[in-house]
Amino acid sequence: MKNLIGLKIFHFKKISSTNKIALSKQYINVPNGTIFIADEQTDGIGRKNRKWYSPVGGLYFTILFNQVEQLECYNKFSMLITLSIRNNLLDYLRDEFVKIKWPNDIYYRDRKICGILLQSITEGVKSRLAIGIGININSNINEFPEEMKPFVTSLSHIYGKTVDKKGFMDALLIDINHYYKEFVKDRFNSYIDNINNCLYKKGQLAEFLINEENINYKILEVNKDCSLSVMDERNHITKIIYGEVI
Ligand code: BTN
Repeated sequence: MKNLIGLKIFHFKKISSTNKIALSKQYINVPNGTIFIADEQTDGIGRKNRKWYSPVGGLYFTILFNQVEQLECYNKFSMLITLSIRNNLLDYLRDEFVKIKWPNDIYYRDRKICGILLQSITEGVKSRLAIGIGININSNINEFPEEMKPFVTSLSHIYGKTVDKKGFMDALLIDINHYYKEFVKDRFNSYIDNINNCLYKKGQLAEFLINEENINYKILEVNKDCSLSVMDERNHITKIIYGEVI
């Protein structure tokens, strides 16, 4: 199988948001797996309508899929992307501190270093899907808005020196292509143990935001359908499909 992801790459110096551009009408006919990458975003979008602060130094890109029929399946691919980003971070960081926070974030200790946002536009049975990835590679944490500073970190900040961002992206693309092929072969299940072995707050009590409500659950494990099994205070086990660990 040929590499599909990043066969075509559009590179922007400064744009609003790679997700926004990817889903614009202008790119309706580009091949599946086309990548939109920006050095800087002026209106980066995060999950839950939050902003994704995107100064120069970070890695911001979107993988676009046109003509997707089963959108939900791509949750598996996005989790595999998270795993591949984590693997690449391990070239610089200590294994035990780099965790996957369900569903798609990467944390170093208690600070976020990477986030993924899936956005789609559906017409009839077909959808256009943008998988937007933001990684704080060489981001200067001191320049982040004051209220964010306690919660974020960057690779260069932890590693102690500037990282070759292009080299990081090139290596990551090789891995993402590998995982894409595994996803297409329906081999997501083979990687669940890897995900669970580095799951953020596994076995611990965590606060969840579900339908605007804050609930405490003990985190158990990620399942084959990408949901998260959790346990409430009465020892009842539930599966969470949508939501977020705070
Ligand atoms: C999150 O809130 O954790 C998701 C953040 C996703 C940020 C990336 S950066 C590239 C792409 N373009 C955007 O505007 N957002 C995503």
